Amino acid sequence: MTDAVVLPQDEQAVPAQAPSRQLFIKTYGCQMNVYDSERMADVLRPLGYVVTDAPETADFVILNTCHIREKAAEKVYSELGKLRDLKVAKAGAGVSMTIAVAGCVAQAEGEEIMRRQPAVDLVVGPQAYHQLPELLTRTARARGERIGADFAPNAKFDALPQARGVKGPTAFLTVQEGCDKFCTFCVVPYTRGAEWSRPVCAILEEARALAGQGVREVTLLGQNVNAYDGEGQDGQPSTLAQLAYALAEIPGLDRIRYTTSHPNDMSADLIAAHGDLGALMPYLHLPVQSGSDRILRLMNRKHGRGRYLELIDEIRRTRPDMAISGDFIVGFPGETDRDFEDTLDLVRRVRYASAFSFMYSPRPGTPAATMAGQVPEDVSRERLHVLQALLLEQQAAFNAAQGGRTLPVLVEKKGRHRRQAIGRSPYLQSVHIEDADHLLGQIVAVEIVSGEQNSLTGRLA
Ligand code: SAH
Ligand code: SF4
Ligand code: F3S
Repeated sequence: MTDAVVLPQDEQAVPAQAPSRQLFIKTYGCQMNVYDSERMADVLRPLGYVVTDAPETADFVILNTCHIREKAAEKVYSELGKLRDLKVAKAGAGVSMTIAVAGCVAQAEGEEIMRRQPAVDLVVGPQAYHQLPELLTRTARARGERIGADFAPNAKFDALPQARGVKGPTAFLTVQEGCDKFCTFCVVPYTRGAEWSRPVCAILEEARALAGQGVREVTLLGQNVNAYDGEGQDGQPSTLAQLAYALAEIPGLDRIRYTTSHPNDMSADLIAAHGDLGALMPYLHLPVQSGSDRILRLMNRKHGRGRYLELIDEIRRTRPDMAISGDFIVGFPGETDRDFEDTLDLVRRVRYASAFSFMYSPRPGTPAATMAGQVPEDVSRERLHVLQALLLEQQAAFNAAQGGRTLPVLVEKKGRHRRQAIGRSPYLQSVHIEDADHLLGQIVAVEIVSGEQNSLTGRLA
């Protein structure tokens, strides 16, 4: 895939052993961007960059962007406007600040970014950020110069440092990138390129290092994570289930999650693993997008509602308490009230533990953007309200149903109240626990007192 790298003109050189310089990264979009942002900080740490949460004091600002919906992309330009003002003010005080745009907007509209906001010094796509040190230290390059090289994800992963700055007992770990599905509404196959999986040994190495740093729970990431087919230790392609079994062997790594899955890649061995491998958490994010077969066809999802419901049944036969999550789009071109009713019906049948729902946003270059029957915004908005009300009701019911149970909770961080801690249930719910702030990083039995809309409350059992 061709990656966008636009080099600066008057970039200031950063000496290799620079004393502490401040780095501010703002992350938009999915968890893969969260992982990438952490890795960008890792790449820049040897150059003396320490992460700050204040752009005002930063020498280097990176916006790690998302292109999935129009709003997400537009946010970047308004943020860049603010950063330009900051850059100008700092320049007036004799202090320089470098601005980089990374992520999916960088990939999709690199040149437009430089044109719309000349304060941007460099643009770097999702497969090229391991080159940030080089890009930063290069001087006197013509502004707008573009390296149109083909960057493969393996080049990036090979170049990333082993050491990761981890903050608590949970971590993301990217195992797969890209998408070959080409749903007609989606930019991801264009911004992230073709499906590619990291080899098992590289993932195990990263996971062992994380466990050594106290990580107890790892979430494997991929745009189509269950399409994972990285090279196994025997040289043969490994499935995600096989990878999960290998990861579960690592001492200290007690919990494994993965996201996002596609229904067509939900293989029998992965479902079986949920009944067999205790480390595999009972939470599955399995987006369906619509409950209407007609719309699913127009979306090029290559599965119908029947197949999806069958899968949910199979999964629940294997793991009856599985929490199901999903993504929905309302107002896809051609969606009628009847189609929308089918979506509501599917939601009622599945009973989701949590879900994300969005109004369709036409994305330039995708087939759906020019399809007939674009749905008026007020109709989409009304459908979104109805769907979200139903999903929130289901989420509240799922949380309330945990009341009275005793669950193993991974204590993650301190809460707002004195001695309170916040942990994670097996179903990915936040759990507030009193008098537990001395147990950070441990998995403890918690008696759930009540379940609210967005979290659970419990006490040490
Ligand atoms: N790979 C994942 C999700 C990628 S994007 C999957 O296949 O499910 C995350 C979610 O954003 C999608 O599941 C979809 O619900 C939503 N989305 C993607 N493109 C969109 C668009 N053009 N308009 C509105 N929502 C969109
Ligand atoms: Fe986008 Fe579809 Fe690929 Fe998911 S499967 S990333 S929605 S194209
Ligand atoms: Fe957004 Fe790119 Fe993720 S478009 S959702 S940041 S893959």
